[in-house]
Amino acid sequence: MRSFAGKVAAITGAASGMGRSLALALARRSCEVALSDVDERGLAETARLVRAASKVRVTTKLVDVSVESAVRAWAEEVATEHGRCNLIFNNAGVSYAATVEGAELSDFERIVDIDFWGVVHGTRAFLPYLRSSGDGHVINTSSLFGLIAFPGQCTYNAAKFAVRGFTEALRIELEITGAPVSATCVHPGGIKTNIAQASKVHPSMAALGVDDLDEAKGRFERAFRVTADDAAEQILRGVQKDARRVLIGTDARVIDLVQRILPGRYHGLLARASRRVLAAGRKSGTTSPSTTASSGRASVRESGAGASEPSRSTA
Ligand SMILES: NC(=O)c1ccc[n+]([C@@H]2O[C@H](COP(=O)([O-])OP(=O)(O)OC[C@H]3O[C@@H](n4cnc5c(N)ncnc54)[C@H](O)[C@@H]3O)[C@@H](O)[C@H]2O)c1
Repeated sequence: MRSFAGKVAAITGAASGMGRSLALALARRSCEVALSDVDERGLAETARLVRAASKVRVTTKLVDVSVESAVRAWAEEVATEHGRCNLIFNNAGVSYAATVEGAELSDFERIVDIDFWGVVHGTRAFLPYLRSSGDGHVINTSSLFGLIAFPGQCTYNAAKFAVRGFTEALRIELEITGAPVSATCVHPGGIKTNIAQASKVHPSMAALGVDDLDEAKGRFERAFRVTADDAAEQILRGVQKDARRVLIGTDARVIDLVQRILPGRYHGLLARASRRVLAAGRKSGTTSPSTTASSGRASVRESGAGASEPSRSTA
């Protein structure tokens, strides 16, 4: 897709972070935007910002991406209200830090329902409209954790690896069939958004050295360098170039390289580094992993918010 002007883009998770930045960046390029989220206030604020920044048509809808019927109804509504739809950004996501043994099944299911099934529902519901637009693009947000496994990230890893496989298979199918639609998988590293605040951390993370959760969260948030606006610009450039994948941030690029050079060894190296850090923390009486690769996730207590993507230092 060479230009976004005159196109229509649907964005999930548009109330915050990269979703909001994508909405603004597209509107500034004269692209109509159809925005959805479960956060009503945040969604209204994004719509207000879009209207203040441009004259494009903007519609909003409360949609939980994990509910297929809701996503399908929204896709139909977007096509009716905007007359067409060219782009779907399956961006909504949440994170959860827990060990494999400690993760609550309900939280595990919630992560997969939103982070994976939300992407599947968005892709399948919008594809017919993207096809009939004659110039369509599916943009699915995975993560750096869709490239490498990380301790404490089993649920998020499972969902984000699945998004990558799903999107790559989709892209190949679209190419084979000569569809007027393409697909891009996005792998952000640590981006300054609300994801840390919105996340949950299970107490089982203490086994991996995450015990001072608030302190760890603060350090991780401060380590993030890439803004949501920068990330959105990179995503849009990737769509214009028809990139198969977009890696955002030095951390994502370095980790991608490590994973490709040492596909069978990086887990072992990560485990060894984490064990060393844990041992050092126990000796000094602090087990916070926030300056190291041991947990890779900022966090807060179960009652609050918490985890986020790893900082550059973890790459
Ligand atoms: N920020 C990072 O460091 C980072 C790194 C890698 C990947 N990601 C991914 O990027 C995407 C955007 O996240 P962000 O960083 O902008 O976070 P964010 O928390 O700022 O935004 C996520 C949005 O998704 C919405 N959402 C949550 N559950 C939903 C549901 N069931 N249905 C609809 N909307 C829902 C939230 O209300 C929120 O507005 C996510 O898929 C996330 O996993 C983020």
